[in-house]
Amino acid sequence: MSALLQVTGLAVSYGHIEAVKGIDLVLHAGEITALVGANGAGKSTALLAISGLLKASRGAVLFDGVDLTKLAPHQIVARGVVQVAEGRAILTTLTVAENLALGTYARKDKSGVAADLEWVYALFPVLRSRRDGLAGNLSGGEQQMLAIGRALMAKPRVLLLDEPSMGLAPLMVQEIFRILKEINLTGLTILLVEQNVRQALKIAQRGYVLETGKIVLSGSGQDLLDDPKVVEAYLGG
Ligand SMILES: Nc1ncnc2c1ncn2[C@@H]1O[C@H](COP(=O)(O)OP(=O)(O)OP(=O)(O)O)[C@@H](O)[C@H]1O
Ligand SMILES: [Mg+2]
Repeated sequence: MSALLQVTGLAVSYGHIEAVKGIDLVLHAGEITALVGANGAGKSTALLAISGLLKASRGAVLFDGVDLTKLAPHQIVARGVVQVAEGRAILTTLTVAENLALGTYARKDKSGVAADLEWVYALFPVLRSRRDGLAGNLSGGEQQMLAIGRALMAKPRVLLLDEPSMGLAPLMVQEIFRILKEINLTGLTILLVEQNVRQALKIAQRGYVLETGKIVLSGSGQDLLDDPKVVEAYLGG
């Protein structure tokens, strides 16, 4: 197993409050890695630092031998580390197809765009049938699908997701997790931040538990699901 992306000693502060306190994470190529934890644990802060939207105060994010903490967000996207934004951040006054096209802005190989669009429409048939409609008219779950589809149009090598199941109805939650697994089976490496600990660990090969800015547990998804501390704190056991 090779490490595709390695986070070492990453710390992030808001003013003098340190929200992420020196964490180590390894993303293996082709795996889903889950980062789980309660409200305010620092999950979003860690993701935002990996994608360059927040500045790290210490530590490194190594990808292809380059420390991403030294790069600007658009340079990180161009290297293939692409975040699906929390709260979706789709453009509601543009059509579905226009939103998907926005995902391609940083791509160097424009040649594969048509094939990737076909793939995204195959993953999310509802996006194909609504492609000329305004994104703002999609349901919450469909907007989440569009946000994921847009990130896929950037041809990511690592996909970062911040709580993709948040606020969705149970059936839609199931559907989103099923599709993430399907995307992963094409070989795409995924870092999945979730409060839905059970579902996230079920589809993840590897997981980390974050508490108040520190990693307190890590292991295979299954080992964490079976861990009494995880059961007690996160699975209502
Ligand atoms: N912009 C900000 N300014 C100051 N403090 C912040 C800011 N954003 C987050 N924090 C604080 O940093 C800590 C980590 O927040 P973060 O949003 O990363 O947690 P999280 O694990 O993503 O939580 P949630 O599950 O609620 O999304 C919290 O104590 C939070 O209050
Ligand atoms: Mg968060």
